[in-house]
Amino acid sequence: MLRRFALAAAVLLTAAVAAQYQERFRPQYHISPAKNWTNDPNGLVYFAGEYHLFYQFNPFGDQWGHMSWGHAVSKDMVRWQELPVAIPESDGVMIFTGSTVVDARNTSGFCQGNEGCLVAVYTGHRPKSNTAPSRQTQNLAYSNDRGRTWSKYKLNPVIDLQMSDFRDPKVFWHEPTKRWVMAVALPLEHKVLFYASVDLKTWQKRGEFGGQGATGGDWECPELFPLPVEGAQEQRWVLKVGLNPGARYGGSGEQYFVGKFDGGKFTNQNPAGLTLWTDYGRDCYCGLTFNNLPADRKQAMIGWMSNWEYAGKLPTAPWRGQMTVPRTLSLRATPDGLRLFQQPAEALTSLRGTVVALQAQNVSGTNAALTASLPGQAYELQTTITPGTAREFGWNVLTGEGSQVTIGYDASKNELYVDRSRGGAEVSGKFPGRYSAPLALRDKPLSLRILVDWSSIEVFAQDGEVVMTSLVFPEAGSKGIAAFSTGGNVKEVKAQVWPLRSAW
Ligand code: FRU
Repeated sequence: MLRRFALAAAVLLTAAVAAQYQERFRPQYHISPAKNWTNDPNGLVYFAGEYHLFYQFNPFGDQWGHMSWGHAVSKDMVRWQELPVAIPESDGVMIFTGSTVVDARNTSGFCQGNEGCLVAVYTGHRPKSNTAPSRQTQNLAYSNDRGRTWSKYKLNPVIDLQMSDFRDPKVFWHEPTKRWVMAVALPLEHKVLFYASVDLKTWQKRGEFGGQGATGGDWECPELFPLPVEGAQEQRWVLKVGLNPGARYGGSGEQYFVGKFDGGKFTNQNPAGLTLWTDYGRDCYCGLTFNNLPADRKQAMIGWMSNWEYAGKLPTAPWRGQMTVPRTLSLRATPDGLRLFQQPAEALTSLRGTVVALQAQNVSGTNAALTASLPGQAYELQTTITPGTAREFGWNVLTGEGSQVTIGYDASKNELYVDRSRGGAEVSGKFPGRYSAPLALRDKPLSLRILVDWSSIEVFAQDGEVVMTSLVFPEAGSKGIAAFSTGGNVKEVKAQVWPLRSAW
């Protein structure tokens, strides 16, 4: 009897939880908090069989404020469980962006037991008051129960430059120098500082990098990590930096540098004036990679899927803000040099339902064989298009009465684009538009992986050489997809569409 009651209660509870994630525009396989505001991902780390995602979170409302670290865990990077707030704002100090390490050898002295413990390194932000300007410092918190409860270090802060803008520490273990390394931003100076430490508590400045690439806005969320160069016995370091405002289309966006790092100094191997964008859409910011991933796993990154230009105006409730899918990263040689390639994490394929295959030759305009109305608005579309004489070709997705988003290739300009001018609900004057990325096909067909999830579209082109992430807010019931070409034909279009199940 008791068991039956427990079962019934469990079923009810599961239903209640599932129901929560059915609101209009609620992403089904991108993580978003059940309610309230989120921005940057923080502290991504793998520990004791779990992936941890912390995130900038306002526990009290759906606008930015009271910044604290929200927390979710996952066994596969796809199905997440939201946990209580990990590190709350306290004593008037907000908990800004940062990272988490596994202190396996208890260098900090914070760890009990032999497993090591989790140490979070974050920016403490004290807003300006009547008597003092705002202040940003670097601070520690630690957990001895797999991230479930946290204590702030009594002697915080660990770095204080007496500055208002000094934030977003990314800390990791640097094996060659056997030290912890921190990359942290001086936003207004467009600089990243590098510090080193043996115990996470005392830090020495070792070097700095700045003034290269795009500098038209604040530099935030620096991220530094090594990646193997595919097909070569080498590795390079990627230094990724958020820029806000001043990204390619205004607002926030991210650039990266490729080079060498010796534990204190980063050397950019490209010309100082070259800007490489991580993502050519408008909605990927402060992407962070995982610390402590097992050696057999590819490095993965999760970003905030929004843009400071309109983040506070998104028409979603009771939450505001969501993350990109996890993306595995690699460095590949291209005719232009080494470039960052991104792919949706393999684990996402576990959400696939039954595939629908579409194919046609010699297509001009739209073709009945290449249109479909899908049961839902969460799916993956993989397509290859062999160009012909057409000037533009691609796919319209989320088509319905009043909305449609176009993912196209402009052969006259060698550009991939996402056009969300008719992407639905009014968000802000800064939201609609057509955004493009340079992309040379080099005599290959155009190959796209397109992830659609109710209020977002992520496009991975040519195996992940170019990525475009866009929020979209289609009219209800806009479930159509259709291939198109204009100004001529394309030789062949092939596509596979998998509905993706909800990850909740
Ligand atoms: C980037 C950012 C960070 C800061 C955080 C505050 O989006 O501005 O620089 O730590 O958001 O929420």
